[in-house]
Amino acid sequence: MCGIIGYVGEKEAAPILIEGIKKLEYRGYDSSGIGIIAPVNSHIAIRKTPGKIQDLVNLIRGHNLPKGTVGISHTRWATHGAPTRANAHPHFDNKNEILIVHNGIIENYQMLKGLLIKKGHEFESETDSEIIAHLIEDHFHDDLLSAVRLAMQKLKGSFAIGVISNHCPDTLIAARLGSPLIIGVGEHENFIASDVPAILDRTRKVIYLKDGEIACLKKNSIKIINFAGKEISPKIQEVTFNIEAVQKQGFPHFMLKEIHEQEDVLKQMLSTRIKGTKIQLEGVGLAEKELRSINQIVIVACGTAYHAGMVGKYIIEQLSSIPVITDLSSEFRYRNPILGKNCLVIAISQSGETADTLAAVKEAKAKGAKIVSICNVVGSSLTRESDGVLYTHAGPEIGVASTKAYTAQLCMLYLLAIKLGLIKKAISENDAKKFIKDLRQIPSLYAKLLKAKQSIAKIAKENSHFGCFLYLGRNINFPSALEGALKLKEISYIPAEGYAAGEMKHGPIALIDEYRAVVCIAPQSDTYDKMISNMQEIMARKGKIIAIASQGDKTIQQHTSHVIYIPPTNKLLTPLLVAIPLQLMAYYIAVNRGCDVDQPRNLAKSVTVE
Ligand code: AGP
Repeated sequence: MCGIIGYVGEKEAAPILIEGIKKLEYRGYDSSGIGIIAPVNSHIAIRKTPGKIQDLVNLIRGHNLPKGTVGISHTRWATHGAPTRANAHPHFDNKNEILIVHNGIIENYQMLKGLLIKKGHEFESETDSEIIAHLIEDHFHDDLLSAVRLAMQKLKGSFAIGVISNHCPDTLIAARLGSPLIIGVGEHENFIASDVPAILDRTRKVIYLKDGEIACLKKNSIKIINFAGKEISPKIQEVTFNIEAVQKQGFPHFMLKEIHEQEDVLKQMLSTRIKGTKIQLEGVGLAEKELRSINQIVIVACGTAYHAGMVGKYIIEQLSSIPVITDLSSEFRYRNPILGKNCLVIAISQSGETADTLAAVKEAKAKGAKIVSICNVVGSSLTRESDGVLYTHAGPEIGVASTKAYTAQLCMLYLLAIKLGLIKKAISENDAKKFIKDLRQIPSLYAKLLKAKQSIAKIAKENSHFGCFLYLGRNINFPSALEGALKLKEISYIPAEGYAAGEMKHGPIALIDEYRAVVCIAPQSDTYDKMISNMQEIMARKGKIIAIASQGDKTIQQHTSHVIYIPPTNKLLTPLLVAIPLQLMAYYIAVNRGCDVDQPRNLAKSVTVE
């Protein structure tokens, strides 16, 4: 997800664009850039740089931009190509006469790039976006709007673009398909932006461009056509909400917004990485022969990513029969680990900047291991240290408590487990097909779970007063218990402990009394009866139980009235579903306690220090 903005009017464009792009930083912040048409000779000047938008501001301070009144700007969340100057937007065409910014993913860019190279086009970046400028140039004769329209018809994927050119220095063109884009309507000035916050200080009159539409803006005119060339009469609306609300798209907190984004994140991952029964792990960096030779896997990570790795252990062992060890990065790096000859180390990290995990990877490489990282930030330090990278593309995760990154990591581990299982012939094509079918259901089951969020909010409210929580799970949901406890403690500051339920009698049962809430994760599984026994032991000691169970399970109601149901699914997939009620429960309890959900005390989004 990236942020784009454009301006055409009577004022100096650069300050307006920089002010606006700062308000889109939550959409992506690994590199940024700006392009302005000079007022005298219509030369297009650009400045772009990796890093935060402040780095761009500093760059411009040192190298002034022309005081032109037409320009575009962009803040990037890298998908194709690391955050470098060359990959930052805006991007020029071959002759530096057409400049574009883009948000989205062009799925057929390699094919188009090949055709354009054959026509003599030269490219600077690794991005998919750059081909858009060259494609427009390839269709340009004397009318920029028509060139844009013809080029848009060739693109497959999702895009919202801004275009300026010295062929028509008084014009700003925008087009969208699948990515958001709005037009801001001003007095002798007009704007385009990915989202309303970017222009709310300038105007509250907006036009929400629809998929398949193109806008041609001048300072005193707005023309909208569709990709077929038919003119469309613009519908101007008044924006009534404030900036913060828009960045959270109406959710009260980024965390709740990101919990709701999990359905789309998994939908996109499954659709791009599963073709039939083929699992496409482009980026894994190891040939099938190397994957086949793996006889030991070590997963290193911290915090929530470590819990994902623990689930990954169960899954990879079940589906591929490869032995898996999970280790906290902060432990692995100091324990002089023994790694076999054909050992694969999987490093999991949302940020790709966690100091302990970076150090663990360095230790593993020093011992000769191959490294594959599962990461959410393109071009982050961890990805540069890895032999292969499986990007989760979950988009920026702003809330400190990891939610969509966690389930995206889980989903990637399921895909990797299936791939390894097929390569090792530990599972049949038919088993894989059945498992993939179940996995594909998960996003729609998220929608069902999120529809029930008010009942989870009610249970959370009724249990917010407890001063201590114990989370219990078994087997593949033991990591879910640890993750549920971490979610609660890090945003509500309530002491919460995750435990393997089988361990209860070895100590934690001493904690049980009527002042303690015990979350029992008990979906249908081979250890369900054992979980029921645990619940009986807890009830006998007046413990208060909140159960997470499979839809249709009536037995569980004999042990507690606080039951959160998850839809039925493959037993190996329950951690993906259980995550949602655990996230929502922690969220609602923290909100009930008036905590700063998105920026909890003492925590940082990325722990880049030891
Ligand atoms: C999880 O909610 C926490 N924010 C924290 O435990 C986090 O998972 C951990 O710091 C690892 O971060 P990473 O995934 O960026 O490496």
